[in-house]
Amino acid sequence: MKNLASSISSNKKFLIFGCGFSGNVFAQKIRQLGCTALTSSRSKKNDPHSFVFNSETNIIPDEDIFDGVTHILSCIPPGKDGKDPVLKTMKSKLQNLPLDWVGYLSTTGVYGNTFGNWVSEKNYPNPFQERSQKRLNCEKEWIDSKLPIQIFRLPGIYGPGRSTFEAIKNKKIRIISKKNQVFSRIHVDDITNAIIYLLQNRNSLNFYRIINIADDEPCSQLEVIQYCYDLIGLEMPKPILFEEAKKDLSPIAQSFWIENRRVSNKLLCEKLGYKLIYKNYKVGLKNCLIDI
Ligand SMILES: NC(=O)c1ccc[n+]([C@@H]2O[C@H](COP(=O)([O-])OP(=O)(O)OC[C@H]3O[C@@H](n4cnc5c(N)ncnc54)[C@H](OP(=O)(O)O)[C@@H]3O)[C@@H](O)[C@H]2O)c1
Repeated sequence: MKNLASSISSNKKFLIFGCGFSGNVFAQKIRQLGCTALTSSRSKKNDPHSFVFNSETNIIPDEDIFDGVTHILSCIPPGKDGKDPVLKTMKSKLQNLPLDWVGYLSTTGVYGNTFGNWVSEKNYPNPFQERSQKRLNCEKEWIDSKLPIQIFRLPGIYGPGRSTFEAIKNKKIRIISKKNQVFSRIHVDDITNAIIYLLQNRNSLNFYRIINIADDEPCSQLEVIQYCYDLIGLEMPKPILFEEAKKDLSPIAQSFWIENRRVSNKLLCEKLGYKLIYKNYKVGLKNCLIDI
């Protein structure tokens, strides 16, 4: 990867709100490229780069955290009230900073059910689930904030430490079959790399407010699980039909099976020229393999 420091200069300071799975990978990469990255968590961490932010208890970062900040990435989902946790508590603070760029990790859930058809940024969002309606409202809040916002819509995120292998190892795997059902996915490294690619090439690329980051090959969950069992050399247990399995699923687990869509990455990968590190689950899962 090109040195970010050479294209947007190393005196850039990133605040990453929500240092969970994706936020943490992003923070590490951006530091390797010479930038400063401070990250938020809801509880105090033994890490000099970490600060506490919790919108539910109204714990807001100290003033000095914001000194010299140029870039912000929010990886925090909507609050229980449906509002964006960062904007609810710090909107005017952010509006008074001389920010170059603000990124927001959203979800492809805002597109709703496309019955297996491809969906792109050109399609009008049609959220079906309540949580996706809240997400769309948060996207609107960010756009209305007039901050220099770029929104990334993500499908299921996986990567080392959070993949089907962990589910198999922890005996949390559910092997369910549902005819014609597909899911889109993205490896966590591609989220980080795609965003950094867009930042590095900002001056030469057209700016798009909303971009999907997804891999090339939506496919069934069963195909992915079978591939994991093949990689670890174990026999996959017999799948259960969704109609049978659903009575034992939590409402949230059931809700994932209600929607069926293929998320297009053409804007990112064709128009904007980003090359995926992991173009499909096969190459991505090889990177996540663990001892079972
Ligand atoms: N996981 C997926 O498959 C998926 C798919 C599409 C989109 N997304 C969305 O993409 C974003 C990143 O996903 P992820 O899976 O990397 O996230 P994650 O690991 O669940 O991390 C979420 C982060 O948000 C923080 N957070 C949650 N509620 C908060 C609040 N009220 N105030 C302050 N901080 C709060 C958490 O703090 P703590 O560190 O203290 O827990 C955590 O750092 C999220 O918005 C997620 O909903 C996820």
